[in-house]
Amino acid sequence: MTAQLARNPAARILVVFGTRPEAIKLFPVIAALRADPRFEPVVCVSAQHREMLDQVLEIAGIVPDHDLDLMQPGQTLDGLTAALLTGLGQVMDAVRPARVMVQGDTATAMAGALAAYYRKLPVDHVEAGLRSGNILHPWPEEVNRKIIGAMASLHFAPTETAAGALLAENVDPARVHVTGNTVIDALKWVTARIAREPALAGGLAEVERRFAGRRIIGVTSHRRENFGDGMASIAGAIRRIAARPDVAVIFPVHLNPNVRQVMNEKLAGLDNVALLEPLDYLHFARLLGLAEIMLTDSGGVQEEAPALGKPVLVMRETTERPEGVAAGTARLVGTDEDRIVTEIFTLLDDKAAYEAMARAHNPFGDGRSAARIVELLGNEIGQA
Ligand code: UD1
Ligand code: UDP
Repeated sequence: MTAQLARNPAARILVVFGTRPEAIKLFPVIAALRADPRFEPVVCVSAQHREMLDQVLEIAGIVPDHDLDLMQPGQTLDGLTAALLTGLGQVMDAVRPARVMVQGDTATAMAGALAAYYRKLPVDHVEAGLRSGNILHPWPEEVNRKIIGAMASLHFAPTETAAGALLAENVDPARVHVTGNTVIDALKWVTARIAREPALAGGLAEVERRFAGRRIIGVTSHRRENFGDGMASIAGAIRRIAARPDVAVIFPVHLNPNVRQVMNEKLAGLDNVALLEPLDYLHFARLLGLAEIMLTDSGGVQEEAPALGKPVLVMRETTERPEGVAAGTARLVGTDEDRIVTEIFTLLDDKAAYEAMARAHNPFGDGRSAARIVELLGNEIGQA
């Protein structure tokens, strides 16, 4: 027998994802798996998102091995989930992986885990253990991640708090590992790239010129539980904030039609508001750098802003990411129009209030989470 034949074959890991934030948080893990001869990563995208997913794939240099191309305009949760379960199951049958990796709490992650479980394949969950304690906020993500948690083999918790939530649900402590959040790996990578080559994020130059001398507020919004009244109230708040001559709002608008319609109706054409198409990650990192304050209902932005010392006002009633709030960089403000305006004006006008929030710290990770995850997976397959 040759030395090569005597070695274990590389473990085939099917990495499944479908939306922008999953792609951002998994590309560092895919890179680390690819660099390690013990693994044979196979990438399957559901394309639950299309354009917003492709923006990340391009920057990260990932060409998926399987692309289900599932996105439908205005897709429903049940139609999407049914298509995901069938499509991902078929890919698993064709690829025959040793393990399946999912990230976070999207429909793709939940259906990917379920399809793997139906085949008795071990599921590795990146960003495990986030809990708000309210199954309607965020909706449906709180339940998606609980479903994944019920099936996962390895739980990669970003923080001690997240690990604690899993232990409180009686998950075997030997299966729970605190790794940090891979979003910090991604953010560091992208920030270093821009530092080396600023032209990569040069697409904001026009808006930067237009708003020179103004205080920039960066906005993102897309949560399903905010659709309807919540989105209308957010748009109303932005109108009032942008009425200040010293302020400018840069708002890359999510492609979900429930967001775009109301934002276009209420904010298009305002002097101090730039409604942009979704920014690729290089340009979004540039926006995080330019902004004095971030106003968002995003999960990922709540993790990135503290790492950069940017005060972040979170337009939610509750958060599964309490670490930013505990550290003082993030504040929950809900979606009430008056409250959002008051909170923003306080940060703009009260230097002490601003400085109390604007401190860089890293409760969500140190940028080495992907390496930890791959090491833990290596230990796991070594035991098999
Ligand atoms: C999804 C996730 C949410 C995550 C968010 C990140 C679920 C149930 N929701 O929400 O957890 O926080 O992604 O952004 O998994 N669209 C496009 N092009 C795109 C992306 C979306 O046109 O590239 C439009 C389509 O009309 C699509 C709609 O947005 O039907 C909604 O997309 P969907 O993935 O169902 O929900 P999101 O609100 O994006
Ligand atoms: N993001 C981006 N371009 C944008 C808006 C956000 O690249 O125009 C990034 C952001 O930096 C973060 C991620 O997308 O890493 C968050 O995605 P989103 O808010 O859509 O989803 P969530 O994190 O709420 O699930």
